[in-house]
Amino acid sequence: MDLTLVTEGRTTIAVPCQNPLVPFPPGTAPVFYNSRMALNRDTTVLVIRQIKPHSYLDAMAASGIRGCRVGFETGVPVTLNDHDPTAIDLITHNVRALNIKADIICRDANSLMSEEKFGFVDLDPFGTPAPFIDSAIRSSGKYLGVTATDTAPLCGAHLKAGIRRYMARPLNTEYHTEVGLRILLGNVARHAAVYDKGIIPLFCYAHEHFVRLHLQLKSSASAADTSIARLGYVHQCPKCPYRMEEKKFFPGIHTCPVCGATLTPTGPLWTGPVHDPDILSSMILDADTFTAGDNAGLKKLLPVCRDEPDISFSYNYHKLAKYYRLSPGPVDVLLNRLRDKGYFAGRVHYSGYGIKTDAPLDEIRDSINP
Ligand SMILES: C[S@@+](CC[C@H](N)C(=O)[O-])C[C@H]1O[C@@H](n2cnc3c(N)ncnc32)[C@H](O)[C@@H]1O
Ligand SMILES: [Zn+2]
Repeated sequence: MDLTLVTEGRTTIAVPCQNPLVPFPPGTAPVFYNSRMALNRDTTVLVIRQIKPHSYLDAMAASGIRGCRVGFETGVPVTLNDHDPTAIDLITHNVRALNIKADIICRDANSLMSEEKFGFVDLDPFGTPAPFIDSAIRSSGKYLGVTATDTAPLCGAHLKAGIRRYMARPLNTEYHTEVGLRILLGNVARHAAVYDKGIIPLFCYAHEHFVRLHLQLKSSASAADTSIARLGYVHQCPKCPYRMEEKKFFPGIHTCPVCGATLTPTGPLWTGPVHDPDILSSMILDADTFTAGDNAGLKKLLPVCRDEPDISFSYNYHKLAKYYRLSPGPVDVLLNRLRDKGYFAGRVHYSGYGIKTDAPLDEIRDSINP
């Protein structure tokens, strides 16, 4: 295998050479490495630097970049697993070169996670994490990381696949990214509840082609009940921009108060907070001193997530202005007007035109062009 060196954050490892001339170069190498996921790994390293778990499992390690970065940049003892022996040879090479404390295991991730426990269990599979979530919850002593790159099923573009994998009905709306993030969270919450565990989202976000969760699991029946109480639905009007959130186990049937159409429910999904603002504040401070691979992206993402209102849907400001035949001014001006009227209002982390507010539609309309 021809190798080349890559550096992410403070960590340099060897990865297989890729053919840069094809649409998806990582698919051309014997062991997977995707440089576009550097920001995803940066966020994990930053979260782990704040929470300091006693151990960390990279359950699908490939080149080992994620587990090696956690070991080298946080000092937490790491275990790197992959079922592919070729990946294990590369991981062994990288762990030795970095001189970090690491166990290296070549097993099926589900069988490993069914037998051993780790402080932080991290899932980073090809596509959907759905087949691994149950065993990861059983293996996790306290924390769980989940990456999903199957955004089409999660966000409603592949409706039937989304229903099969996540037992929820996605909806392809202008805020489908938010729906995908919350459907994945809702699915993890339901799996965790089976084992009397509740979920506490620390930092969960969607970016480009992936969704990434960092969660704390709290072991008690009452914590599980609290999580279940945060499951619910977003109801979208099929005819106008009206949408609403409902925290309820079974969806109600609702009529649009603006136009009278029957609202379409999406879910069940997580309607609770998706970030812990305290962890985000310390990550923001840490990101300043810590040389991350994609620092510019991180510095943009973290403050927006910290300040994002805790609402399960968003509006595309430009689409809304077009619907009302108004010309949109700067987003921040609109947000300030809504805040001056006493509403929550903020940006969303996955779209420059997205806004979240609890203001009713006529107030948003009147604040676009007062
Ligand atoms: C997307 S790659 C992991 C990327 C890596 N975490 C990173 O940050 O670059 C998925 C890896 O999971 C491994 N894998 C897939 N199914 C597995 C299973 N059931 N058990 C263990 N490893 C598995 C594959 O061999 C592959 O190396
Ligand atoms: Zn309507």
